[in-house]
Amino acid sequence: MYQGLLHAHSGLRWLVLVALIYAIYQSVTGKKSGKKFADAKMAGTLAVASIHLQFLLGLAIYFQSPWYKMLKEMGASMMSDSVARFYAVEHPIMMLIAVLVATIGNAKAKKASTDAAAFQKRLVWFTITLIVIFIAIPWPFRFANAGWF
Ligand code: HEM
Repeated sequence: MYQGLLHAHSGLRWLVLVALIYAIYQSVTGKKSGKKFADAKMAGTLAVASIHLQFLLGLAIYFQSPWYKMLKEMGASMMSDSVARFYAVEHPIMMLIAVLVATIGNAKAKKASTDAAAFQKRLVWFTITLIVIFIAIPWPFRFANAGWF
């Protein structure tokens, strides 16, 4: 069960990244070409929905994870282990920040008074989201236990 959820969580990162990059790309081209934001809203909704889904999956695995168990058993002393600290504390907190930034940014874009302002807001807030997510992902080149899928 845990391994299955972990695989789903690992694979879903690609959907999150592609959806975010596509919405950012569409914001740049939409702004340049003077497109209507209403016609490009779906990309933002999809990106936010995929991040929310990923967040829920993350929560579902977190409380079954060995990292949470370590945190419960060892308390603050596990913080000296950089890998355990990353999975138990840094990864969830940074991803929570990413979820908030994406959600707020998408809402602000939808409420913007002009199409150009809407694209600009989505561009800025989603780019911040992408950077935070990219830093907070346990990439295999940083963590020996992590995979690509
Ligand atoms: C957009 C949000 C998120 C993304 C893109 C993301 C992505 C990932 C990726 C790629 C992995 C590595 C999987 C592997 O080892 O192959 C991972 C692991 C993990 N994630 Fe997330 N995650 C997100 C949010 C969360 C949240 C909110 C939590 C907890 C509340 C969470 C908890 C975990 C845990 C505990 C692991 C490690 C599991 C293990 O190695 O046993 N994730 N995440």
